[in-house]
Amino acid sequence: LGDIATDRGAGLPADASPGQQVPRPDLPEIDFDWDESTWRHIGGRFLDLSVAAMTDWEGRRPTPDTSVKEVGERIRSGLPAQGEGADALIDGLEADLLPLSGYHGHPRWFAYITSSAVPIGVLGDLAASALNQNPSLWRAAPAATMVELETIDWIKEMLGFPDEAEGIFSSGGQMANILAHVVIRDQMAGWDVRRYGMAGPDGKGVPLRIYTSDQAHYCHHQAVEVLGMGRDAVRDVPTDDNRQMRLDSLVQMMDEDVRAGARPIAIIAAAGTVINGVVDPIPELLALARDRGLWFHVDGAYGAFGVLAPSAPPRLRAMADADSIACDPHKWLYAPIGAAATLIRKPGALQASYGFKARYLQYVDEPGRVDLAERSMENTRPFRALKVWLALRAYGREGYARMLERNIRLAAYLAALVQATPGLVMAAPRDLSIVNWRVEPASLAGQKERLDRLQLAVIHELERRGIAIISNAPLPDGSTALRACIVNFRTRPEDMELLASASLEIGEELAAAGDF
Ligand SMILES: Cc1ncc(COP(=O)(O)O)c(C=O)c1O
Repeated sequence: LGDIATDRGAGLPADASPGQQVPRPDLPEIDFDWDESTWRHIGGRFLDLSVAAMTDWEGRRPTPDTSVKEVGERIRSGLPAQGEGADALIDGLEADLLPLSGYHGHPRWFAYITSSAVPIGVLGDLAASALNQNPSLWRAAPAATMVELETIDWIKEMLGFPDEAEGIFSSGGQMANILAHVVIRDQMAGWDVRRYGMAGPDGKGVPLRIYTSDQAHYCHHQAVEVLGMGRDAVRDVPTDDNRQMRLDSLVQMMDEDVRAGARPIAIIAAAGTVINGVVDPIPELLALARDRGLWFHVDGAYGAFGVLAPSAPPRLRAMADADSIACDPHKWLYAPIGAAATLIRKPGALQASYGFKARYLQYVDEPGRVDLAERSMENTRPFRALKVWLALRAYGREGYARMLERNIRLAAYLAALVQATPGLVMAAPRDLSIVNWRVEPASLAGQKERLDRLQLAVIHELERRGIAIISNAPLPDGSTALRACIVNFRTRPEDMELLASASLEIGEELAAAGDF
């Protein structure tokens, strides 16, 4: 490549005249491809690495005990001028990537809402990459498009959505909600937003208002910001003692907004809030939305699939009558990261928001053919549905119902352990598989600020000692709680016991030392 890189144009065929014999150009050798034996050798080593990453859970910490400096030194090496052999690459991954990774699949990874990846899904991602499908245009990826359509159908069925509803995969719950917000705005604004934007024709657009609880995920605020609707388009409705959206406050806020000249367009209920896992009063909110002619969206990124578990709150089932649902197979269907879905009840609404008939994408039509590029803002799209389709086939609806039920029962067990342990107190109701609790040693009774600092110190210490990864929960009075979310098929009762006892022991130890 040296000559070509330094003397641009030297290796290019010259222009030819009609009838002239055109010589073949000089080309660099192809050295990017592998023959079958290289595939088997290097592929085998990558498979060994994957097996190491997916087994021997007790032999490793949930997150590494390391520093930014160390990770930088061990991972970064500068852009190589010349390629390295694949064996050297895999040696490096084994030496540095494996030990310096955090493991959501660890039985005591309880932070955020990040699940254990189901093995068949991991291999599904490998197959999706090898096939390198782009389920965007039907003609480019017929089988992958059909897999995505069928997976969407299965998700609709699990959540009780009707056959005619449509859906699309995206990267995560944030994106799945944002995709729904676009449809909500376009369907409900009352003017052609795609054409005129938020100002409306002749600048007469009315401010639009959407209602979520003050416990909602920030993706809804981000959605209205990126859609140009402005931050005030989302109203944070206060919650009651159970952390559920208050209907009286909601009605009051909507009336105020109407009086101020704004137009309420949608209510968004949580099928599991991010902080507490609380399910909003979906049937009542739905009835109110219907009464006022509003769109009803359910943010089920965390909890929608909880509906499969017998112990989930029955009010979750009312999401079947929503106008749209965002859900996240990479949370509670245990798909490896990068799989969310948006469901829209009204057929054609996704296409009405996202369809573009580009002149350079003309083709012969065929009945039943779907170009998924018309259902979101991604043109080139990864084949995300494969890992979910495989996992649903491998374990079935009932297999999932059992695992989700197991997670909920483990969370209820942790809550009971907290209630039964002097020095630990529950800090929020438990609806699904998230538990919020506090360590309150008697020696710190009444010392609000010190107690708050203690909670953060306990979270840090659980991580530093390699026991468990949990996150923090802000409470309505401004204080802090410990938060564990169980969306992991590997977690066992003994992990709950260790988490409860270790949080208490560490809390008491720190309180006695006064060092936090
Ligand atoms: C209720 C809710 N909505 C949206 C999201 C965003 O999902 P993701 O992190 O997959 O983008 C989350 C994430 O925890 C969530 O809990």
